[in-house]
Amino acid sequence: MIDKINDTCLVELIKELREEKDAIILSHYYQDDAIQDIADFVGDSLALAQWAAKTDAKVIVLCGVHFMGETAKILSPGKRVLVPDIDAGCSLADSCPAEEFERFIEMHPDHTVISYVNTTAAVKTLTDVVVTSTNARQIVESFPADEKIIFGPDENLGNYINSLTGRDMVLWRGACHVHEQFSLEKILDLRRKHPDAIILAHPECKSVILKIADFIGSTSALLKFATESLERKFIVATESGILHKMRELNLDKEFIPAPPADSTCACNECSFMKLNTLEKLYYCLRDESPEILISEEIRLKAEKPIRRMLEISERLGL
Ligand code: 13P
Ligand code: SF4
Repeated sequence: MIDKINDTCLVELIKELREEKDAIILSHYYQDDAIQDIADFVGDSLALAQWAAKTDAKVIVLCGVHFMGETAKILSPGKRVLVPDIDAGCSLADSCPAEEFERFIEMHPDHTVISYVNTTAAVKTLTDVVVTSTNARQIVESFPADEKIIFGPDENLGNYINSLTGRDMVLWRGACHVHEQFSLEKILDLRRKHPDAIILAHPECKSVILKIADFIGSTSALLKFATESLERKFIVATESGILHKMRELNLDKEFIPAPPADSTCACNECSFMKLNTLEKLYYCLRDESPEILISEEIRLKAEKPIRRMLEISERLGL
């Protein structure tokens, strides 16, 4: 029985199945350490979409959340796209139901619709161009300064991009429950205890957190900054899975997770991301299930704004 198999055996079994089925395992930085360690590629939302679009493998196992699996399937319809847990959703994507977003768009005619990748395929069909936290600023700036824009669903990211670009985009009021949770008081406490620490924050965090951050960026931008920085201590205000790669690439540096407000936990985890386990990854490769399936009509409509994002990102070298 699988529950008698330890992690070392699981890793070997997963490797054998990956080879046998010509599969590639893609993992987001917020996955458990063991999943990141076995993945062929670990990256942020943009990098995962770029990999899904270019891989030659027959099967893509997307270790992340549902919208990431959907994005992979939209970009690679001929491949089988598997996810270890089909219930791994996203509170941010859930905060933007397609029918309500459609009404919101109707209330703002003549607006270009820019949507964060953390949305359902149905929301993407209503979108002109998709963005991720890595390319949101540059994609917004690729439009004329007077372009009327709707930005959804992450209000914090939208406010942050408005402040950087001087735009006045109309914002959908959605949020990620993980990034909204960081406690200003607890982070300031940590800073008092570690006055030499640099505060890193993801732009999905509330503006009070962004105001005290020394560097703001997407998951991959935070990792790059920490790796290239001469500083040695960092307080990290994003999902704590990123600390695994930060520590792996920076053995001489200290990374302290920023704590959430309503918990005694020291770090902040996305419960959806953490639904995926090594064991579920094994089953999903063995059984080729759960699989992401999308109707061709929706896929074709959702593909356009994602391809547009990939094209702009390539042009900008992102
Ligand atoms: P990035 O991967 O773009 O940093 O976004 C973080 C996130 O919340 C993914 O769900
Ligand atoms: Fe969604 Fe937030 Fe989890 Fe990312 S961290 S998957 S935005 S709920």
